[in-house]
Amino acid sequence: MKDLLKLKTSISEEIENILNAQVKVEAHSSAIYLAMSAWCDDQGLDNAADFFAKQSDEERAHMLKIFNYISARGGRSISPEVSNVPVDFESFRGVFEQALAQEMFVTEQFNKIADRCMANKDFVTFNFLQWFLAEQVEEEYVCRRILELFDVIGEEGTGKWEIDRHLVKVKFAGE
Ligand code: FEO
Repeated sequence: MKDLLKLKTSISEEIENILNAQVKVEAHSSAIYLAMSAWCDDQGLDNAADFFAKQSDEERAHMLKIFNYISARGGRSISPEVSNVPVDFESFRGVFEQALAQEMFVTEQFNKIADRCMANKDFVTFNFLQWFLAEQVEEEYVCRRILELFDVIGEEGTGKWEIDRHLVKVKFAGE
């Protein structure tokens, strides 16, 4: 019976568990970005609100990509519980700093998953992860470039609205 059960899945229990943990991280990112979108909208920062709404959608797409992968390999995907979603943020700049910190955390998580895949000799999942690792380069880059706008323009006077106007022009050119 045990051997029959084993035939149902091509991923180890450890890999299944860390992928499900990452599903939860992506769902949490999606919820945080939606909260940031609402906060920016409330401040009249329309472009930033759109930026974070799109980010939120992207994170949900990432979550589903991993969720569906676990199922495709014969594992059991877990729909995550999401808690500790902030409502208020201290400042406009603080929102982007938190977004960058979140992306750096996600990059670290993917590095750890890649490391476990190598240790488990799960090269199929290691290959699946490459898309996410490349995506992290872009996501961190965009946050850093937007934070530079805060340094260059400053938030004083109409600065916040100038930053909001310019942040739509930030694009990743590394592809
Ligand atoms: Fe799905 Fe922004 O990491």
